[in-house]
Amino acid sequence: MSNKEIDDLSGTETTGHEWDGIKELNTPLPRWWLWTFYGCIVFALGYVIAYPAIPLISSATPGLLGYSSRATLDAYLDAAKAAQGGLVQQVADTPVAEIASNPDLARFAAAGGRSLFKVYCVQCHGTGATGGPGYPNLNDDDWIWGGTIDQIYTTLTHGVRWEADTDTRFNIMPNFGADGLLEPAQITTAARYVASLSGLEGGENTPEGQQLFAENCAACHGDAGQGLPDMGGPSLVDAIWLYDGSLAGIETQLQKPRHGVMPAWGARLGDTAVKQLAVYVHSLGGGK
Ligand code: HEC
Ligand code: HEC
Repeated sequence: MSNKEIDDLSGTETTGHEWDGIKELNTPLPRWWLWTFYGCIVFALGYVIAYPAIPLISSATPGLLGYSSRATLDAYLDAAKAAQGGLVQQVADTPVAEIASNPDLARFAAAGGRSLFKVYCVQCHGTGATGGPGYPNLNDDDWIWGGTIDQIYTTLTHGVRWEADTDTRFNIMPNFGADGLLEPAQITTAARYVASLSGLEGGENTPEGQQLFAENCAACHGDAGQGLPDMGGPSLVDAIWLYDGSLAGIETQLQKPRHGVMPAWGARLGDTAVKQLAVYVHSLGGGK
């Protein structure tokens, strides 16, 4: 009991230890702190037993509960794949023209198509699919090769003038100028006539122009220049131009036509991806 001494100055009990007249006060840890500390130790022991914890050479102690973060991740991934797999399989099994009649499937396909578009198509057609000179805008209802879902699907599967694909869309405009098929004066007359169809500056609708058009151009561009999707001859009446929409631009196309090339995607991305892309492109607003 002699060590139950009370320090005069602080009024706190001392432990009885004393060095050179300096006494140690007895101020123990608070109870709540101590019990929390013990609690942590108990929890840690339980954790080490229940869960993977102690490192071994190539793995760790497995723990009684058999938990594994890798297995959990695999399970999540499997579930996600299963949820999507059903729809991917459904897209694969559904003819492209019938996807639209199932709104859930159409939404899924269009979303997939949108992300594929960002990877494979924006370089040429632009982020908003708005195109640029030589690269058609896919938002409008002006289609070179046709705007039904089946036509778009065919264009995507086989490409345009993509010679590695034997079923590619193919038709090329003759070199009226370079190959001497028309006299320079006839080219000017035909070009003026075409310019007049969409009211371009310099356009002139003459009987000679009409006749030249009927004989040399209508087979691919239609009698009235309205375009023939089966031939890939763009409309010449709608003021939407793949190339240069001016009299000079039309003359250039007659002198030395360009032949746009688009890769075939069927062999590269597979049929299901192409269906998704077709649904997406068709949904951009111009689909027929
Ligand atoms: C290397 C450039 C290039 C890439 C990449 C490309 N395209 Fe094209 N695409 C073209 C060109 C050029 C044309 C126009 C062909 C022509 O002159 O008839 C075209 C035409 C089209 C057409 C037909 C438009 C119409 O009016 O009939 C569609 C649809 C189309 N592309 C969709 C796509 C999609 C979807 C992708 C991505 C999977 C893609 N393109 C990737 C260059 C490209
Ligand atoms: C054998 C088919 C064929 C014939 C015949 C033909 N064209 Fe074309 N024409 C095309 C094709 C295909 C294109 C699109 C080229 C491309 O996609 O790169 C085109 C493109 C054009 C364009 C550019 C359209 C644009 O949107 O920029 C003009 C202008 C044009 N043709 C005018 C004529 C005129 C005028 C004649 C007659 C003197 C004619 N074509 C005869 C197939 C033909």
